[in-house]
Amino acid sequence: MPHLDRHLFICTNVREPGNPKGCCAEKGAEAVREAFKRELHERGLKRTMRANAAGCLDQCARGVTCVVYPEQVWYGHVTVEDVKEIVESHLIGGQPVERLVIRDASTDLK
Ligand code: FES
Repeated sequence: MPHLDRHLFICTNVREPGNPKGCCAEKGAEAVREAFKRELHERGLKRTMRANAAGCLDQCARGVTCVVYPEQVWYGHVTVEDVKEIVESHLIGGQPVERLVIRDASTDLK
C-alpha cells in the first residue's frame, strides 16, 4: 500500500431526477473528480496524492462535496473552477481554501 500525503474523496452519488435530496452528480461531480485527477497527474503527484469517487457524504445540499484526508477538511459547492486552487493551496501548500470549507460537516444534511 503506497503512502499517500493526501487522499481526496469526491461524492459522485447519483439520485433519480426530482429526488428532493438532490445529488452531487447533478451538480457536476464527475467533472470535478476528473479535474482533480487531471491536476494531480499533470503535476506528477499521482504517487503521493489520490482523488477517488465516493458515495454520499451526507452533505447533499452542499454538493459537490469533497473531503481531504488526513486533515478531514470538508469542502462544499466545489466546481471545476475551484479544483486548481484546492490542489495548489491545500493539497500542495497545506492551506485549506477557507471560502469552500464546511465548518459543521458533522451535521447531517441529507
Ligand atoms: S449526494 Fe453528495 S453528499 Fe449526498
